[in-house]
Amino acid sequence: MAEQKQINVALIGSKFMGRAHSNAYLKAPRFFDLPVEPVMHTIAARNREEVERFAKRWGWINASDDWKKVVADEAIDLVDIGVPNHMHREMAIAALEAGRHVACEKPLADTLDSAREMVAAAKKASGQKTFVWYNYRRCPALTLAHQLVKQGKLGRIYHVRGFYLQDWAGPDVPLLWRFQGDVAGSGSLGDLCAHSIDAARFVTGEEITEVSGAVMETFIKERKVIAGSAGGEISGSGAATAEQTAPSTVDDSSLFLARFSGGAVASFEATRLSTGDKNGNRIEVHGEKGAVRFDFERMAELQWYDATIEPAVQGWTTINVSNAGAGHPYAEAWWPTAHTIGYEHGFINQAADICRALGGEQPVAPLPDFEDAYQTQRVLAAVVESAKNRCPVSLDQIK
Ligand SMILES: NC(=O)c1ccc[n+]([C@@H]2O[C@H](COP(=O)([O-])OP(=O)(O)OC[C@H]3O[C@@H](n4cnc5c(N)ncnc54)[C@H](O)[C@@H]3O)[C@@H](O)[C@H]2O)c1
Repeated sequence: MAEQKQINVALIGSKFMGRAHSNAYLKAPRFFDLPVEPVMHTIAARNREEVERFAKRWGWINASDDWKKVVADEAIDLVDIGVPNHMHREMAIAALEAGRHVACEKPLADTLDSAREMVAAAKKASGQKTFVWYNYRRCPALTLAHQLVKQGKLGRIYHVRGFYLQDWAGPDVPLLWRFQGDVAGSGSLGDLCAHSIDAARFVTGEEITEVSGAVMETFIKERKVIAGSAGGEISGSGAATAEQTAPSTVDDSSLFLARFSGGAVASFEATRLSTGDKNGNRIEVHGEKGAVRFDFERMAELQWYDATIEPAVQGWTTINVSNAGAGHPYAEAWWPTAHTIGYEHGFINQAADICRALGGEQPVAPLPDFEDAYQTQRVLAAVVESAKNRCPVSLDQIK
């Protein structure tokens, strides 16, 4: 048997996504047979002591508080970016120019201009691959939805509903980077709706051609500024006292309508103030022959409606998408049928597919690269434009 090639990974960012990606690199080669093995070479973040502790805990060989040095290190093959959105461009371009493959968190960037520069750098790079962590594509139930549409089981797509509902961002939550427009780019739109847009593109195989009726609202206009407050870090806030407040400059809620290249119509909603919803990432796709529904809070299941069978027995079916014998995506790597997997497995499945792609094999389902994630970013820009000018926006206008 040929010796398994190793790729040295450097991950930047050691908090929420830092943990999700570290776990993914740790587990992917244990559960999957891969053409290349990811070696957890270096973890980089801003705080030296913290990043050293993190490295020890997760098994990274090296720790660094200097991402530029890490990216320039000739030993590194793949740079993985898990930091706030305004840093994606600089880090990704530096990594591509240094000759590394790049995996970047979503959304691709804070602004469309930054995203476009990233795509240009990826095009200029010779032989390097790029990946974007739209991880929900690799929840097996959503992957199956993509496969069913591709097999023609839904026929012509008529109607899509994508919504992503959370409720964590009430008035007591301080000014995390996620509420700063110059860091995040947008709020519920880029944070949550980007996943719904990607999921809709992925499942239908169609592109959004027009956005209309967009509404974006900031309900909580001022937030407390407290350094190191719960759930994340505050970027660029400097020394602050508990009494200080500053404006939240992003949307708490966003909604819009859309048309797809195949003629389907769609509605999208995202909010971080949907009281009672914790991670309601849901999508429904209705076609002439059938329909699918996915709700991340019941992530093992795909709801399937077959409109081609005898009407007397038509009805929604709940498929537990974990049956390796039935060919369910990713199931062969995991547990016996209905021994359910969770949030982290979308990331592990993606790390496995990244290793497959780097080893010259096909991923289980298409992996978004910078160019692909740029299409989602164009839709985000169209939504902002539609909301601002209260008008429909053709995607032809958004280059
Ligand atoms: N795929 C998903 O479902 C998903 C979920 C959450 C977040 N994200 C994305 O992941 C990215 C990070 O989000 P998060 O929730 O992990 O944020 P976080 O606040 O939990 O962690 C941010 C990390 O970035 C590091 N960092 C910030 N500025 C840095 C700099 N200049 N140099 C080096 N390190 C720096 C911080 O030290 C920290 O480790 C964002 O782009 C976000 O949109 C994606």
